[in-house]
Formats: sequence, C-alpha cells, structure tokens
Amino acid sequence: MNDVLPDAVGVWQFLEQSARDVFSTYGFTEIRTPVLEKTELFCRSIGETTDIVEKEMYTFADKSGNSMTLRPEGTAPVMRSFIQHRLSAQDSVAKLCYIGPMFRYERPQKGRYRQFHQIGAEAIGVEDPRIDAQILLMLQHYSTCIGISAVSLEINSLGCPVCRPAYRQLLIRHLEKRLEPLCGECQRRYQTNPLRVLDCKVDACRVATTAAPAMIDHLCGDCDQHFSQVRRYLDLLNVPYTVNARMVRGLDYYVRTTFELVTDQLGSQNAVAAGGRYDGLIESLGGPALPGIGFAIGLERLVLMLGEDRHRMVVPELFIAALGEAAAEQAFVLMSQLQAHGVRTEMDFHGKSLKAQMRRADKLGAVHTLIIGDDELRRGDAQLKKMDDGTQTSVRLDALLDHLR
Ligand code: HAM
Repeated sequence: MNDVLPDAVGVWQFLEQSARDVFSTYGFTEIRTPVLEKTELFCRSIGETTDIVEKEMYTFADKSGNSMTLRPEGTAPVMRSFIQHRLSAQDSVAKLCYIGPMFRYERPQKGRYRQFHQIGAEAIGVEDPRIDAQILLMLQHYSTCIGISAVSLEINSLGCPVCRPAYRQLLIRHLEKRLEPLCGECQRRYQTNPLRVLDCKVDACRVATTAAPAMIDHLCGDCDQHFSQVRRYLDLLNVPYTVNARMVRGLDYYVRTTFELVTDQLGSQNAVAAGGRYDGLIESLGGPALPGIGFAIGLERLVLMLGEDRHRMVVPELFIAALGEAAAEQAFVLMSQLQAHGVRTEMDFHGKSLKAQMRRADKLGAVHTLIIGDDELRRGDAQLKKMDDGTQTSVRLDALLDHLR
C-alpha cells in the first residue's frame, strides 16, 4: 500500500480529471460506493473459485459478526448499488463511472499492490454491440488524451451460458490428456476452472496448452454474430485491436466480449486496463435481467507509464517577496485578497532576506514574483517579475489583480 506524496499527486489529479472530462463526453456520471461490502457479494459475482475470492480478499467479521470485505474491484459494488436504488427505473441505459481504491492481498511487485486505484466505467442496459465499441472507443480516447501510446487493445469473446458449458467440457477433455506437464495449481483447477489454465503464466502450462481449443471457435450463433459485429464497429470507428483467443479474465462474471489494454512497459503486469460484458450478473444478484459492459483502468500502472511528471504540479501564480515589516504586513493582506479571488499566492513568514525569498519563489515554481519594499508601498506600486524570462514591470498595487488576470 502506497502513500501518494504531494510531489507526485499532480499526475494523479491529472489522470482523474481527464477521466471525468472524457467519460462525461460519452454520457457517464460518477457513482461512489463504500469501500466495504458484504463478503457474499464478491463470492457471488467474481466467483468462488477465482484467485481473488480464494486468496486475495481482505475479509473480516465486524462487531456484529457479519462477514465484510474490502472491495477487490468496483463492478460488483456498482451493480449492488444499481439494484438497491432501482436505477433501472430512471432510464433504460445507466452509464456509471467511479474512481477509488480497491484491495487485494496479492504478492506486491512493480505495478501490483495491495491497495491500488481503479478508474472504472459501466454501461448497463444495452446488449447492442455498438455499446461494446463505444466503451472501447472511450478507453482509446482516454489513453490518447492522457498521452500513453505504448498500449494495444486485445479482445476476445468468452461465449455465454448457451455455448460455454460445451466448450468447457471440450477443454477439460483436452486438458485431461495433458495433465502431467501442468503446474500444481493448474492440475488442481483444470476441472473447477479450466479456462484459467489457458491464462497461466507458467511456461510449461503455456506450451502444454498451445493446441487447446479456443472459445471463439465454439461460439453459438448469437455470440458469434455479436462478436463479429463488435469487430465491425471497431473497424468502422478506427479503433485498432487484435483478437487474443487465449485471453481469459480472472473474474467469473464475464460473457461474450472481453478485452485488455496491454503494454510491454510494465514487466509482467502488462494489463493497464481490462473489462468486458457481464450480461446475467445483475439478475444473478437479485436485480432485473439487464446486460452490462465495462472496464477498469489501474491508476498506479498509468502513473508508472507516465512518470511522476513534476510539470503537472500546481504552482503558485504569484510569490510576494516583501522587504521590511510594513511591506510584509501589506503583502499579507494583499496575499489574502488575491487568494480570495482565486489567485494562487504565497509569501514568506520567516522574515527571510530578499535573496532567500526569491530562491523559495523559484523552488516553488512561482510564475510571477512581486517585490514590495517600503518605497514601493509609499508610491502604491511594485515590481512584478516574470520568473521564466526575468522581465520586470512596474504595476500599481490596486490594479494587480486585473494585471495578473
Ligand atoms: P481486473 O482485470 O481485475 O478487472 O482489474 C482491472 C485493472 O486494475 C487491471 O488491468 C490493472 O490495471 C488494475 N489492477 C488489478 N489488480 C491490481 C493490483 N493488485 N495492483 C495494481 N493494479 C491492479 C476488474 O477489476 C473488473 N472489475 C473490470 C471491469 C469493470 N469489468 C467490467 N467492468
């Protein structure tokens, strides 16, 4: 779990604000849910046999003995809230987004933490493949907007309850004959969660499953058509992608379209964002039978890719350097007035020399410095210095606000 220190927070704020700006263009509004939910919610949605539920949840009994869990992801809580507040009655489509911390007890490494942050978006109520394409377009738009280019989009279809059970059996039969080279974990889970075997990072498992049947070759008619329509709309919108038939997601609620935005810049944690369709999830949680699709972006991974860019730090627009007591008093009042008008202003409170004050203005990255001494005070003007090129102009103190604007 990490602290985000003031020096680094600028890039976080930039990423969060850009998401709000871009997502609102596509009609998404923010939803905020608690970080804590009943454990059962995650077991029922993410799936009992997934790594997240089996090994990674921060679960504890509260003082009433209820089993509670720190949310390991955002989709299930948003669906819980959508059902509880009957948001389906408000509009036939709900487009919701969220930004916040998630918790998974994973082995930490670069790009993988126990508290991490996701920016997520969920579109509920539309089965039409155009919404799949819109979601992916929005993800691409966001990546371009924040300036990450070393990413590529991989898509797949995981079928539906009509076609997946038969494929699952086919895969189990295929794996049964090749159990020996598989890692212990895959030998254990090939019957309970055979699709995860395709996603195993162990080399021997990858080799042993190269010829395994792929879900996209065994889709039912409806899923097949849905997937080809998604691809058609992506082409129409000029969203580049590749089909990765081995992509299996680590959460059980997915059906049909699934996708990952991957990069080779983050070592083994290559997914910057991921998501897919979850038609059936809302109904299984006791809500209306509505389809849904969404994604979540890992904020820490974006920060790693962008670097903690100091230029995104919020800097003072004005530093007031005062010489002498009377000037310092005037500077203090002036600073407060400017702040009340929204001008980011700083000054010194330690009675430092002019030189030291100028050094601090420089260190803070102030855009302008105003130098006030007793003479200037008497005349009612002061020297305003532009810090980047050193140019100085004389300004009337009573016209300073207008001048800065
Ligand atoms: P997920 O693939 O588990 O999907 O996580 C989405 C993204 O969150 C990952 O691609 C990664 O960038 C980031 N992430 C996950 N775990 C960690 C971690 N331990 N440390 C740092 N970053 C991490 C979901 O969570 C689904 N709820 C996404 C979704 C939304 N599907 C439909 N709607």
